[in-house]
Amino acid sequence: MSFTILGTGKAVPEYVMTNDELSTLVETNDEWIRTRTGIAERRICKNETITELTVKAANAALENAGIAAEQLDLIICSTMRGENITPSQACIIQKEIGASCPAFDVNAACSGFIYALDVADGYFVRKKVKHVLIVSMDNLSNIIDWKDRSTCVLFGDGGAAAVLGEGDDLLSINLTAVGNDEVLRIPHGTNSSPFYEHEEQRAVLHMAGNEVYKFAVHAMSTGIKKAVADAGLELSDVDCVIPHQANIRIINTAAKNLDIDKEKFFCNVQHYGNTSSGSVPLALDEASRSGVLKKGDIIAMCAFGAGLTTGSCVIRWNKDGKTES
Ligand code: ACO
Repeated sequence: MSFTILGTGKAVPEYVMTNDELSTLVETNDEWIRTRTGIAERRICKNETITELTVKAANAALENAGIAAEQLDLIICSTMRGENITPSQACIIQKEIGASCPAFDVNAACSGFIYALDVADGYFVRKKVKHVLIVSMDNLSNIIDWKDRSTCVLFGDGGAAAVLGEGDDLLSINLTAVGNDEVLRIPHGTNSSPFYEHEEQRAVLHMAGNEVYKFAVHAMSTGIKKAVADAGLELSDVDCVIPHQANIRIINTAAKNLDIDKEKFFCNVQHYGNTSSGSVPLALDEASRSGVLKKGDIIAMCAFGAGLTTGSCVIRWNKDGKTES
């Protein structure tokens, strides 16, 4: 017994920031961003808080699943930075949606959704739960350096949630981590202790883009290959790939390495940029609601991010086609 995905729901901020607007902030241009990343626009929080977004995604997923908040046995939120250091964002979601189950956060950066799926799987296997809510959301606009053109053009805000129920649709799942804070990290920033002797670092994203790029292509190619093999399937059995939406060139190179038709990779990076842990479920929700996913489809999902972490899995889709627009 593992789980099945009963429903999904997304939440993104209203404000759309185009590449042209970004080029008024840093020395860049639409052509560079599109050709190097595939990103045309991203959503940026202005008046929305991460709590509002996580709660909106949670409620949308519950509605899509036909499950009431009172039926939840566990809430996991994957995020790098919720509203507070403590309580966890999952506890805030629990309060706001009216649930009464245990709740906690996981932080695996962009791989967070798949890490959360694996944690949830353990609860289903131990028969501790019947319904689990996963909410994956990041607010990266709050922790990127808006003066650094090599990173600020890549990211956006938003995410999505999924409600899991008992079932047998998780066919394989793999997580990896290789501790490395040199190529990608976001420091905490301030330290309020007057006794602390180390220099403070700005709480903004530092990334060696080229190094992460190489890691990402390798992670996506090997991650999908292993997850499909572990599921006892061939790459040709995969109907749809939901990849982490970081850069269209990473996705295209992985598709080529795997010899999987590019058309099978669901992509929305052009609209949202990299939303970190929100990225994979946001793509899953849009693929589901747009009718791309059909009942019985074999879906491979893969993500990579700070840590350095990776997560990949294969699931069978068990919902009817297009649910709503
Ligand atoms: N606009 C115009 N020029 C730019 C910009 C910009 N926004 N950014 C960089 N450049 C310039 C550079 O200065 C450089 O100029 P130079 O040749 O004169 O030195 C040139 O463009 C090429 O820069 P590169 O860094 O070599 O560009 P590259 O093709 O490698 O693309 C990118 C950079 C998009 C960051 C790519 O390396 C990438 O996608 N890396 C992976 C990032 C990622 O996937 N992160 C995911 C994890 S995030 C997380 O976990 C939170």
